[in-house]
Amino acid sequence: MTITPTVDDQRRLRIALIGAGFMARSHTIAYGALSTLFPELGAKPRLELLADASDESAREAAERLGYARWTANWQEAVNDPNIDIVDIVTPNWLHYEVAMAAIAAGKHVYCEKPLAITAAESKRMWEAARDAGVRTIVGFSYLGNPGVQLAKQLVEDGTLGDVWSVKAHFVVDANADPRLPRTWHYERAKAGLGALGDIGSHIVAIVHEVAGPLTSVFGELATAVKERPEAVGAASYGSTAAADAPLVPVENDDITFVLGRLAGGGTAVLEANRVGNGHPFDLGFEVLGSKGSLRFSQQESYKVELFLRGQEAQVFQGNTVLTLGPQHPNYGAFWPFPGVTLGLHELKVIEIRNLFQAILDDREASPNFEAGWRVTEVLEAAERSCDSGAWTSVEA
Ligand SMILES: NC(=O)c1ccc[n+]([C@@H]2O[C@H](COP(=O)([O-])OP(=O)(O)OC[C@H]3O[C@@H](n4cnc5c(N)ncnc54)[C@H](O)[C@@H]3O)[C@@H](O)[C@H]2O)c1
Repeated sequence: MTITPTVDDQRRLRIALIGAGFMARSHTIAYGALSTLFPELGAKPRLELLADASDESAREAAERLGYARWTANWQEAVNDPNIDIVDIVTPNWLHYEVAMAAIAAGKHVYCEKPLAITAAESKRMWEAARDAGVRTIVGFSYLGNPGVQLAKQLVEDGTLGDVWSVKAHFVVDANADPRLPRTWHYERAKAGLGALGDIGSHIVAIVHEVAGPLTSVFGELATAVKERPEAVGAASYGSTAAADAPLVPVENDDITFVLGRLAGGGTAVLEANRVGNGHPFDLGFEVLGSKGSLRFSQQESYKVELFLRGQEAQVFQGNTVLTLGPQHPNYGAFWPFPGVTLGLHELKVIEIRNLFQAILDDREASPNFEAGWRVTEVLEAAERSCDSGAWTSVEA
């Protein structure tokens, strides 16, 4: 028997991961699965460099996650000549500075959501990337879900008729325990908005993807847990507060409702809630049109439910369950048969595939920094509306 080595002459896109926390793992899992699931891409990632806040944490994470080199200096990482893609998984306040430096160094940029603390920063990030001709993508995870893409298709091909209204919600209870420490997520300067920026940005992105842009909004932002125990050290998800930690103020929203008007004439209602007891992870949306409606839930994302007016009197009265399968966008790479729910890490593989494909084809990825900027415009307009008590137009 002869053992023959394989030949791997695929192009490598070299990754510098900036940040080594919760999402660093998810991105790294997705890089690992990319060429198994999308072998036709013609390029593979190389986990080249990891930057984190200290020597100790950067070295530990590089070893654990499998990056070849590490640094505690993100500026070094973004300027390294052996890097093609800078992947930003830091807290929100660093997105702008790191992305702008990476763009200036001619790197493609993958940045987690929300794109930046302010819409003005997000706009500058988009303009810089566009002018530099580098490719960008924002980590809105759920847009690549086959169900979201099927919903978009059923709106675009007119199956639902005119979009009369859209409802979207993202409710979690990960932050409902008031004893959880005040991590960077609750600090205005480090996170920006609270529930609205963190999970609300996902549903604004979904509404934009499926039903078109929001043009004006009316927002109500509330903070249910007004103080939390001070965090010690680099606290993240899952960290606990010291028993005697002093209470410090929560500086952004826990619960936000947004009424919106769509460019196409419809109406939207969005709910973002990070303290929703009894809703561990509840993300979904409905599109109600002149010919029918559809609904989708991330928790049951093996299906889209569809109602078409005119079919009420037929045998299949009511909502029809469209089971997602290989004939739907992005599904076939995972399973050859229908009905399997794709997990959050798998959605990240789709996101990275989209960025790689755009780099290889030399075209814009989706959702790029322009899409990320337009989401931040909506978030800010909702907050301005809450402050003024008036409907507020979304600048663009
Ligand atoms: N798309 C999604 O579903 C999703 C889910 C969760 C979080 N996120 C986003 O991902 C980003 C990261 O969130 P997270 O939960 O991983 O945060 P985290 O707090 O777990 O990790 C942040 C990491 O950044 C590092 N860091 C801080 N300052 C640094 C510096 N100066 N240089 C290098 N590294 C530095 C920290 O040491 C830490 O390792 C945020 O923007 C968040 O909104 C997205």
